Amino acid sequence: MCGIVGYIGREQAAPILLEGLSRLEYRGYDSAGVAVFDAGTNTLAVHKAKGRIQVLSDQLHGGADLNSTVGVGHTRWATHGAPSDVNSHPQVSRSGRIAVVHNGIIENYAELKSFLRTKGVPFRSETDTEVVAQLIEHFYEGDLLAAVGKALHRVRGAYALGILCADCPEQLIAVRKDSPLILGRGEGCNFIASDVTAILRHTRRVSYMEDGELAVLTRDGIRCYNHLMQPVEKAAVTIDWEIGAAEKDGYEHFMFKEIMEQPQALRRCLSPRIREGEVVFEDVSLSGDYIKNLRRVCVVACGSSYHVGMAGKYHLERLTRIPVEVALSSEFRYMDPIVDQNTLIIVISQSGETLDTLAALREARRLGGHILSIVNVVGSSIARESDQVLYTWAGPEIAVATTKAYTTQLALLSLLALWLGRRLGTVPDQDYRQMIAAFQELPDRMEEVLSRRDDIQYFASNYFNHGSIFFIGRGLDYALGLEGSLKLKEISYIHSEAYASGELKHGTISLIEDGTLVVALSTCGRLFAKAMSNVAEVKSRGANVLALTVESHREEMARTADAVMAIPELHELLLPCLGVVPLQLFAYYVALMRGCDIDKPRNLAKSVTVE
Ligand code: F6R
Repeated sequence: MCGIVGYIGREQAAPILLEGLSRLEYRGYDSAGVAVFDAGTNTLAVHKAKGRIQVLSDQLHGGADLNSTVGVGHTRWATHGAPSDVNSHPQVSRSGRIAVVHNGIIENYAELKSFLRTKGVPFRSETDTEVVAQLIEHFYEGDLLAAVGKALHRVRGAYALGILCADCPEQLIAVRKDSPLILGRGEGCNFIASDVTAILRHTRRVSYMEDGELAVLTRDGIRCYNHLMQPVEKAAVTIDWEIGAAEKDGYEHFMFKEIMEQPQALRRCLSPRIREGEVVFEDVSLSGDYIKNLRRVCVVACGSSYHVGMAGKYHLERLTRIPVEVALSSEFRYMDPIVDQNTLIIVISQSGETLDTLAALREARRLGGHILSIVNVVGSSIARESDQVLYTWAGPEIAVATTKAYTTQLALLSLLALWLGRRLGTVPDQDYRQMIAAFQELPDRMEEVLSRRDDIQYFASNYFNHGSIFFIGRGLDYALGLEGSLKLKEISYIHSEAYASGELKHGTISLIEDGTLVVALSTCGRLFAKAMSNVAEVKSRGANVLALTVESHREEMARTADAVMAIPELHELLLPCLGVVPLQLFAYYVALMRGCDIDKPRNLAKSVTVE
């Protein structure tokens, strides 16, 4: 959600900024812009365009039109003011000498705008960001840093900012509060970026900015300050993944590539954590006493990560016998939650930057909860603010719709449940052994599922024209349905709902009519008979049923359902990890057949850094 990239060095800035922005496209955006210092005229050259980065790049001939070695670029995801050229960033001050790119929301922008208007400052855009640019200029008396400091003192909200001033072309200013921003350290050049993918082509050495920090970048160094403007030393870390991991590698879409990468991602996530038949969490240190005194577990997350929590609740409760609550971060933070030192808070987030989840984490910590997070992006805010972090090690996920992050999160949460259960003595030895074996088999079984993708493509070709689709299931299959339904609606724009099968009769069944597509999920052996009754119920009201079950039930299911997708047998608790794959593929192929923009669905952003 909004992307920032900034460069100061000795090479032409504009092509670097445009290339960096294109790597941030996946975050979601509706317009793009760049500002560079033009040494010829001693002014800032600002170019912005609604729509794809390509539009801006074409206007600037790939950046060749701009001659400058310092600049900032931005992809905007509209919050204040519709997507338009004028509302795009960079936003500039009245004189045009200060340019600002911003990710986040300035909460008191209306108040600040009124204040500036009383001082005669005219506004061009509807954005909250323009207020920041104007406010800095209002305080500017020749010392840019002092002006930025005074402006930030007045600003409330969440922001990552890149600031450029025509009077100080030898520096670039970066500020972070509650929105991600990193510093990239090159040779004779330095960078700012919303995430590493934007600058990985130029440097692997990055520093993570903390909340309240400000950085002044020059060609030869970076000076950092805390919120009191005291200098702080920042360590640099080296990013160890290859740029290729964030490229399509010949696949048509990132989403498809990431679906296909899942077995490998699971191996990376699970293998180092299962040794000689035991779960080993070197990255977690929870004492035996702490675990024995645990009274409650609360899982907090948004979207697909929340669905992981919905499935994980079954694992955790079954294997530990500790009550588990699963909360949406956006609700949790305002619901006066019951948390104490005997509550383990499990925070799940692929990006590690989702603002609601970060706020929920902080609220839980304030109340005394112990925070263990499951995160994909190394060094992200949620990872850094947690007491313990389990990284999923799924590699960069670029497609907006999550796939490999979901499966690795779910596998890791299940493994955590098994580890906790083992330490609590609530998992019988034999069950423990069976589950360990199942975890070890999981990547291979997933490969089998992926190898049958043509079947799913065929089903998608039969059903891609439906206007409304219901997913039904019980227990873990209900949790799986939530994810299958979200996957489908977010990329294919088909209306879709997931229901606990038993709930259908309490209202929703009235929507089932001739030809309605129902995706019936029935991977859980114990509940197969119940699932069959629900399939019969919707069939007798005219529904078209596409079922998902395990191989051993395929035949029986095929007697009632119109079509059946089957997955290999595995331990019941791990079936959602396998079962989600046909649903991801189904969503993918349906969206493909409907001509949708699969990697960048409308209105969505990869990393939701505003409330
Ligand atoms: C759906 C999807 C979103 C995210 C949600 C949380 O495919 O990707 O629903 O799961 O925005 O994001 P993270 O996990 O980054 O906190």
